[in-house]
Amino acid sequence: MKRIGILTAGGDTPALNATIYGAVEQANALGINVFGLLRGYAGLLTDDVPHVHLNPLFTSIPELDPCLGGTLIGSSRTYIDPDSDKIDIVRNSLGRLKLDGLICIGGDGTINGMQPIAEFTQCVLAPKTIDNDLGLNYLGEPNEWVRRPGDDGEGSEDVRIRSRDRMNLEDIINYATPGYATAVFVVAQCVRRLRTTAESHRRIGIVEVMGRQSGYIALGAAYGQPDVILIPEVPVDFDLLEQRVRQIYDLQHHVLIVVGEGAKTADGRDLGAATPTYDPAGNIRYSGAADALQKILQDRIEPEFFNRARSHEPATAAYFTRKVGHTQRGGRPILFDRFHASQLGGKAVRLLVNGENNAVATLQYSRANGLDVSSISANKLRNQWGEIHPRCVHPSMYDSHRMQTSEFGEEYLKPIFTNAIGRDDIEFLRAELFSPGNLSTPYQSVNTDVRKRVRYL
Ligand code: F6P
Repeated sequence: MKRIGILTAGGDTPALNATIYGAVEQANALGINVFGLLRGYAGLLTDDVPHVHLNPLFTSIPELDPCLGGTLIGSSRTYIDPDSDKIDIVRNSLGRLKLDGLICIGGDGTINGMQPIAEFTQCVLAPKTIDNDLGLNYLGEPNEWVRRPGDDGEGSEDVRIRSRDRMNLEDIINYATPGYATAVFVVAQCVRRLRTTAESHRRIGIVEVMGRQSGYIALGAAYGQPDVILIPEVPVDFDLLEQRVRQIYDLQHHVLIVVGEGAKTADGRDLGAATPTYDPAGNIRYSGAADALQKILQDRIEPEFFNRARSHEPATAAYFTRKVGHTQRGGRPILFDRFHASQLGGKAVRLLVNGENNAVATLQYSRANGLDVSSISANKLRNQWGEIHPRCVHPSMYDSHRMQTSEFGEEYLKPIFTNAIGRDDIEFLRAELFSPGNLSTPYQSVNTDVRKRVRYL
């Protein structure tokens, strides 16, 4: 293994550069050249295949900074359709670059793109996604999916028949994905900041967090101590929600609710709007769960309910919604993400060197040793039809009666978050944000510097 390529695909996370850094540092030690392929799979489909040599003379280029969010080689949600002639273009590009192996940093969509490439070039996935949905609650989980004829007699639908009510932390395949911890770090702070506004103005704040069909970010928001957490995996019981909101408001004259963007009603409908995207996993883009929830609560709770706490103010203004949005994906990664992302990048290189193909570097937890890197064949993540379902929050992690993270959910979160913030994260904030130099120096984009290094075939 003399030359490997590396690409970042799908939505960015704060830890992508850290993963690349870990891979390049490992490659330096092994005397392997690493080429960053620009803009994910999209770069491989262009005629001139823009690329950057990330370690000339086996020294990482200075632009490769593990503390910098985003990705210095860019990303895209470009889909590689194995059945189209695109796959031949990719084969040709990798051949012209003379690459012996490829590391794809991404999530479920990226694995789908990697699969057909693995037919002709050794490939390994280093995981990333703020959604924390790449992995399994336990081995064999994909086999729980069965295919049934659709309700209308046409087509078919995939239904999951759970085989286990309980699970063990040590069974989890890929305990946490790089990017998740920083996203929760942002969300928990956001919840705390919105709390004081809700508290001061006697309002009901509804905070919508990312994660698509998976509620891990909402679950982790528990660190910000919201009053109610709603996750997509458990349909919202509106009667119970109304009751909780009334109780909490009576007690403290404000309520703070966190809702995962993919939250569902009891009849399986999305609370917000869902629009299809063109990315490789056939993912859906969600928006509007918080607004929909506000409307439902407004219809159920009579304006007079707010009379005592909010006299002389309109009941309609008793609610506010906030979508945390892309701030969850951006900026400097916290220590947990930096460290484990780099470890996974290094592991991906070693997997290639050891001859693995179509494999995924993973983070495994054991009570005795904490978190460590391991790996699994990508096929273990697929169901019998070859599809990858996003990992969902297991029911045992959520207390649907209290509408909060369950005790077991808390046990799950602790190994990730207890020491997730490093001293340097605090020092960075203290010293950097209000540095007087920021006032006079324009933003220095890594793109500008990396462009000077881009080569074309
Ligand atoms: O998958 C990561 C994610 O951030 C989701 O949580 C979110 O729904 C989606 O990407 C947003 O995608 P986009 O950046 O295309 O708006």
